[in-house]
Amino acid sequence: MLIINSKKELIDILRRDRECNHKITLIPTMGNLHEGHLSLISKSEDYLSKKIVSIFVNPLQFNDSSDYTSYPKTLEQDLEALEKRKIDYVFVPTKEEMMRNIIHTDELPWGFTNLLCGAYRGRHFDGVQKIIREFFEIIKPDFAIFGEKDFQQYLLIKYIAERYFRETNIKIILSPTIRMDNGLAFSSRNTLLSDEQINKASLAFQSIKSTVVDYFHKTGLLNFNNLIPQSANLTYQYVKIYDEKYLYDKHGLGANSNSDQKIFRLFIALIIDNVRLIDNYPVERYDIS
Ligand code: PAF
Repeated sequence: MLIINSKKELIDILRRDRECNHKITLIPTMGNLHEGHLSLISKSEDYLSKKIVSIFVNPLQFNDSSDYTSYPKTLEQDLEALEKRKIDYVFVPTKEEMMRNIIHTDELPWGFTNLLCGAYRGRHFDGVQKIIREFFEIIKPDFAIFGEKDFQQYLLIKYIAERYFRETNIKIILSPTIRMDNGLAFSSRNTLLSDEQINKASLAFQSIKSTVVDYFHKTGLLNFNNLIPQSANLTYQYVKIYDEKYLYDKHGLGANSNSDQKIFRLFIALIIDNVRLIDNYPVERYDIS
């Protein structure tokens, strides 16, 4: 496993790999690797290719600077964990290296600035866009793997691939959310919570999910504002069901799709003692005429 810090070195190495007809898979991360990330790595084994894990805590995607500084950074343990997997390269650029000559990006379609995390996290998706486009420019991966937990991010990545990298033909792969025994999705932010807070968060997600899905199946309504309890230590930022295709179309994608099939998904963001957690769940098909 080779640890690479410079973009130029990475480009040179990958050029040689391509000359030997190797495909390339990228697994982008912000480090603090947990079961969720490790499952992305296991997923990459389905694709015969050289594997690159990037570790970069992207400052541009934090709307709140204290969130950036408190984001858990555990490089040594991460490298140890990767050493045990079939990873060829770990790309760990410094902030200066990553930001050098970063491409100017266009404004994102409104869904990424007005819906769900886009509405609550300022220029979050713009920051993700800048870094992912740079990764795609340098690496030109054949496959790139992203977690289902960040579903809106996954839509953004598909948008970036279709809008800017059509010729590179990057296959964007969605890897299922990995959950703890109590149902809470693995997230680097969980390390900021005590066991008691983790149980509370898990209960909060489960109870709001069952209430909302039940209400949705009975009424078909998508607005849950008066079902959502708020308390001093636990607030919900959003609880919304969207048709995935609606999000997709609104983002300027899939416009030619003529399928009427609706695939619903419940999206939740909550804040528990100042720690923000997100999750989403597919919701069984439901016909709204
Ligand atoms: O999901 C993440 O870890 C980050 O948003 C990503 C995809 C590495 C971009 O900075």
